[in-house]
Amino acid sequence: MQNLIKLAQAAPAIAPLFDADSTRAKAYSAKACGMLFDYSKTALTKASLDALFALAKDVPAARTAMFAGEKINTTEGRAVLHTALRAPKGTQVLVDGVDVMPEVLATRARMATFCNAVREGRFQGQGGAITDIVNIGIGGSDLGPDMATLALAPYADGPRTHFVSNVDGAHIADTLKGLDATTTLVLVASKTFSTIETMTNAETARNWMAETVKDPAAQFAAISSNEERAGAFGIPPERVFGFEDWVGGRYSLWGPIGLSIMLAIGPDDFDAFLAGAAEMDAHFCEADLAENLPVLLALVGLWHHQALGHASRVVLPYDQRLDKLPDYLQQLEMESNGKRVSKDGQTLPHGSGPIVWGAPGTNGQHAFYQLLHQGTEVAPAEFLVAMRGHEPALAHHHALLVSNCLAQSQAMMLGRSLGAARAICAELGFEGAELEAQAAQRVFEGNRPSTTLAYEQLTPAMLGKIIALYEHRVFVEGVILGINSYDQFGVELGKELATGLAPVLSGETSGEGLDGSTAALVGYYQSVNSVK
Ligand code: F6P
Repeated sequence: MQNLIKLAQAAPAIAPLFDADSTRAKAYSAKACGMLFDYSKTALTKASLDALFALAKDVPAARTAMFAGEKINTTEGRAVLHTALRAPKGTQVLVDGVDVMPEVLATRARMATFCNAVREGRFQGQGGAITDIVNIGIGGSDLGPDMATLALAPYADGPRTHFVSNVDGAHIADTLKGLDATTTLVLVASKTFSTIETMTNAETARNWMAETVKDPAAQFAAISSNEERAGAFGIPPERVFGFEDWVGGRYSLWGPIGLSIMLAIGPDDFDAFLAGAAEMDAHFCEADLAENLPVLLALVGLWHHQALGHASRVVLPYDQRLDKLPDYLQQLEMESNGKRVSKDGQTLPHGSGPIVWGAPGTNGQHAFYQLLHQGTEVAPAEFLVAMRGHEPALAHHHALLVSNCLAQSQAMMLGRSLGAARAICAELGFEGAELEAQAAQRVFEGNRPSTTLAYEQLTPAMLGKIIALYEHRVFVEGVILGINSYDQFGVELGKELATGLAPVLSGETSGEGLDGSTAALVGYYQSVNSVK
């Protein structure tokens, strides 16, 4: 890493690299799985790429270990096999010497049978065919399905899907308002079936349904590894869809947690989604590191964050239906690699994963791009863009969308010089000191790095490829950083403290020993709510 940091300190300006090498765009890009990843608008050179590939030397062995079902989630003693959920029929995946694929395929078949029954009106609500699905879950039991159902809206021909995650009663109240309880199916999606937000929302949904229908539990299904708890909630085993501990929450949309996606788009398109991801898995396992998309994404990320020291990366999908991709990636990347110690508990000698944020273009252009272009913080940008939309009658919109995407990465790299800014101001009629002051506002430093992931069209298969690409990118970054990307101890402390504070707020227990700030905030809550 030290060698890489030295190279970063002497990193060249980006734009002149194209003058020096007319083949740069081709040399610093890779094509696979129907997508083109262009990383030429970065300061990477042969020397820095060589240094990055040297860091990736352990990746092939680690990748083999993951796919072979070794317990690479060492802190929790678990295998990491979300890839098994999308593996094609005929694959064998061993965990502790047992092939898990028969169970995976049987669960997938049960999901499809249930989905077909719902979509074809054979499984009905107490008022008729199911019109609406409410998925109650949070984190990995919400973000993936919510993101994917929006992304695949052109393929949706099943009941409407809704997602409730926040324990804020506003979320479930606003969602249930206007729904007909007699034709609504509620999916309680929780790996543990104990997450407080999900359980609170599930009880509220059951009470809401009980106001209208005789047997509310009959319109509930559970997606959980904990059949016993789901049963205690009133959901019979035939409507519980389980998965194993080797599927992490944020990697779980390929299996039962994806039930809402399958209900929306149907089993065939869901299979295409899985097949796309499996194609990316095969690419990740087979392609040379130099052409390997997940490896390249990871190395570019390490270059920007660990070597150049940029604190965040901004994800900019020029694809409105990927509106929720940045939220999804926040959990995938930050819950996986936002860790200050290595696998064996040593303080990391380098930064952990970066802050990930973003919003779709062109909306973001009218919000935070000002800072991206002229602010003092540099946020390397990751553009995503489909070459073709789903609205042929609106192809002119799509051409505008793509031109905006390409223009933004161009503007970030090229910037605008003081000379050019002065010329603009002279045109505008400014003179003397005023011209200088106005020109300074119009300078764009440029030299701001970005990558572009361009793909043909956002089909189910392509979405599967994109998500699998990001999953493997997280894996590669984790391997190089020495992090266990598959635990999430950082979410626990806040949960524990919230459990202790709930009875303090209601006045059941005293707030003795609380820090001054928290005690004052508790006091304010109690005064507003007249808690004695
Ligand atoms: O936020 C912590 C977390 O454990 C996530 O990793 C997980 O996706 C989410 O909570 C929900 O957990 P569950 O599916 O068990 O309700």
